Amino acid sequence: MCRPEHFTVSYRINPWMNPQLPTDTSLAVSQWQELYDTYRRLGIDVQLIDPIDGLPDMVYSANGGFVLDGKAYGASFTYPERQPEGPAYMEWFGANGFEVVVPEEVNEGEGDFLLVGDVILAGTGFRSASDSHAEIGRVFGREVVSLTLVNPSFYHLDTAIAVLDPEPVDGVSNIAYLESAFDDRSLAILRERYPDAIIVSEQDASILGLNSYSDGYNVVIAARATGFERQLRERGYNPIGVDLSELLLGGGGVKCCTLELRR
Ligand code: ARG
Repeated sequence: MCRPEHFTVSYRINPWMNPQLPTDTSLAVSQWQELYDTYRRLGIDVQLIDPIDGLPDMVYSANGGFVLDGKAYGASFTYPERQPEGPAYMEWFGANGFEVVVPEEVNEGEGDFLLVGDVILAGTGFRSASDSHAEIGRVFGREVVSLTLVNPSFYHLDTAIAVLDPEPVDGVSNIAYLESAFDDRSLAILRERYPDAIIVSEQDASILGLNSYSDGYNVVIAARATGFERQLRERGYNPIGVDLSELLLGGGGVKCCTLELRR
């Protein structure tokens, strides 16, 4: 995670961002702290990267890379405003014992790559280039399923899909998703692969309710995603709401602030 000490909205690279609206950095920090404390209470070992002045989006650490099997595939950001974050995260991975793979293709890390069981779901359409899907497949030797996003408000895959079961339960890992975020081809794939998925409402998705972290039982979600909360409870999960309203001004939520380090 990356404490949002330099968080603000000074440019617009997604529809959520409006540089004309004021932001409150100290509120962002205290809301982020609540997420950090929630993870600590769940027994998660949280590592921090130092925030860099002038990189207001660095708090969204999910975009810093994709880490699996002790290997960190670095990010190469779409927009110049965020490009310096790529090397900063790669430096952290190298200094913390991960084998760093410098990317050739444009990709925004775990924003667009989600590990579901053995498979990597990979998003494209707004940020990560489709060529990065083949690249990540080569790097990790896993099956990669390409999905195309069509709504600019759900520009990263982690805004449109929540991974509920990082490890398979009875052979299946389940997900939750927003149907309207995908093109027809992608929707057909999701329906076939995940017939029991939770289908989330536009209302819950519109506050980035899907942008969440699950350990397979506890699911940390946006506090205002009350419909999703109910759906999770019905399925036997334990939803835990956190308010990250200030970070929503940059177009991010729980998952965006979280990069999983899989050794
Ligand atoms: N302002 C950031 C951007 O547009 C938000 C990133 C959100 N991160 C995520 N994993 N969805 O790039």
